[in-house]
Amino acid sequence: MYRTHTCGELRQQHVGVAVTLAGWVQTVRKFGSITFVDLRDRYGITQLLFGEELNRQLTEDPPGREFVLQVIGTVTERTNKNPNIPTGDIEIKVDSFKTLNRSVTPPFTIQDDTDGGDDLRMKYRYLDLRRNAVKKNLELRYAVGRAARNYLHEQQFMDIETPFLIKSTPEGARDFVVPSRMNQGQFYALPQSPQTFKQLLMVSGYDRYYQIVKCFRDEDLRADRQPEFTQIDCEMSFVEQEDILNMFEGMIKHIFKAVKNIDYTEKVERMTWEQAMWNYGNDKPDIRFGMKLLNLKSAFTRSERINSQLEAVLDEGNASLISGAGFGVFDNAETVLAIAVPGCSEYTRKQTDELTEWVKRPQIGMQGLVFIKYNTDGSLKSSVDKFYNEEKLKAIATAAGAVPGDLILILAGREERTRKAISELRLEMGRRLGLRKDNEFKLLWVLDFPLFEYAEEENRWVARHHPFTSPKPSDISVMINNSPVIENPEKYLEHPYSNIKANAYDMVLNGNEIGGGSIRIFQRELQEKMFAALGMSQEEALHKFGFLLGAFEYGAPPHGGIAFGFDRLCAILGGSESIRDFIAFPKNNSGRDVMLDAPSAIDDQQLEELSIALKVESR
Ligand code: AMO
Repeated sequence: MYRTHTCGELRQQHVGVAVTLAGWVQTVRKFGSITFVDLRDRYGITQLLFGEELNRQLTEDPPGREFVLQVIGTVTERTNKNPNIPTGDIEIKVDSFKTLNRSVTPPFTIQDDTDGGDDLRMKYRYLDLRRNAVKKNLELRYAVGRAARNYLHEQQFMDIETPFLIKSTPEGARDFVVPSRMNQGQFYALPQSPQTFKQLLMVSGYDRYYQIVKCFRDEDLRADRQPEFTQIDCEMSFVEQEDILNMFEGMIKHIFKAVKNIDYTEKVERMTWEQAMWNYGNDKPDIRFGMKLLNLKSAFTRSERINSQLEAVLDEGNASLISGAGFGVFDNAETVLAIAVPGCSEYTRKQTDELTEWVKRPQIGMQGLVFIKYNTDGSLKSSVDKFYNEEKLKAIATAAGAVPGDLILILAGREERTRKAISELRLEMGRRLGLRKDNEFKLLWVLDFPLFEYAEEENRWVARHHPFTSPKPSDISVMINNSPVIENPEKYLEHPYSNIKANAYDMVLNGNEIGGGSIRIFQRELQEKMFAALGMSQEEALHKFGFLLGAFEYGAPPHGGIAFGFDRLCAILGGSESIRDFIAFPKNNSGRDVMLDAPSAIDDQQLEELSIALKVESR
């Protein structure tokens, strides 16, 4: 037997027990004739005491860092207890030991605060995974997955696997493709998601499906994106949007309780996509703090959202706050947006200069920043005093919801960029003020997304979510009765398709999109209309999605679903921005596995078998 106990389980009550332990050497400390070794395994660390009688063997066969040892000994009470570790009351008085395997010196220290840089740790990921910090993340991931499965199982969902070697599924990214040896010149695509399969399963009658499944997307990577990532993918039949929202609100709350012991009892907040864009400049707002946008001037409402509820709040009044003062930056801008930052009126020149530099960074891309200080004594001072007297400044500050002590920050420019920039600035100020706490969780449903987006380069509509999402029932006739052709690209916003809303929803957690889904189209005619709206010819639609259109002719039930970003959910619950920390073997920012050195060239014979000739010399 290699071991009787793990390195994490022995306590005071075991004193006197004879044990055998096996694990990795964390540290070796010699004090005169005795030696202490910390032995580590997945469960913890136990201190070993090697007495004088073992010195000869220790000299002949000295254990080094990361050696694998087996020791036989007796649990004894420590004289010098360590309250910081669970096994800190005891140590093992070693009677004999055996080196099961040796280790070369590891390239970085296997500790919480390691000296290893990112690249090095990725190259030796199997060593990095020995570190407690990474292990904790994987344990959390396992707990999240288990909680999701338990909940879904209780709710009668069935886990069904779907294939990886498939045909393109359009989720908006590029496909990874796999050549077929048996079908020369032909390629499989790896699924960007199991979207069409889960819909087919609904047609087959499996009315509650789920799968914790890998998805593959060839897209630009960020901290919250990997080329292969995992979804908790779900689909249900005979449901409306409300059923889905309730079911999956339940799942997330169950996960919160099971993994973090958080009772998230309140109803998850909801807002429309328009409200999110209007109030936060973003379709995944972090609602842990306020600092809502003041729309002083906006193209957002001008035409695009003619029918929107926001018409009621069209800011004619706000616009008059800034117009007529001769300040060209505002007068000439498409959009002027402000936020009131609480308690920052005493920012120094240096601090406001630094913020100005911050918004000018290429990632943010603004020309400058206007600020108004609403001093605690009620006076106002701004960077645009030349154009606006104190009374006007006060009117702007008040409209922004500011109170004395606040700093009002204003950005002006093109609609999309400015909205994005103010949204980033809001998040940054929230971060600086400590309003975005890792241990505070705030969920949000964003609803009523636009069904279509306009792709300028191609002068056509693209599906904002994916082509299987149904329009809101009230908008179906708009889709059926209007041609998708955009006669005048300049005025695409006036095309009726601009205003069609989707039966789609996203779940947002602390400003991150953790899930998204929709009620689907389930009639062939409407699905065909959708493909046509996206500029697909009938032949193309049949070629790509004939199987789905065909299936819809055999009694497809009304259905809808959602998929959660499993890695993202884990990262947020673990208090991290980066999903890489929660994936056992992740890719780096260039999509490479630096440990395997993949992707890599394949040999000529493999290419030959596949009948593939390369245009570029591979390395
Ligand atoms: P969607 O494309 O919105 O929907 O994806 C669902 C969720 O998956 C996560 N996600 C990612 N996580 C890590 N790396 C990536 N590259 C990545 N891309 C997406 C996000 C996102 O919310 N088939 C639909 C779902 C449906 O309609 O049911 C789909 O895949 O958290």
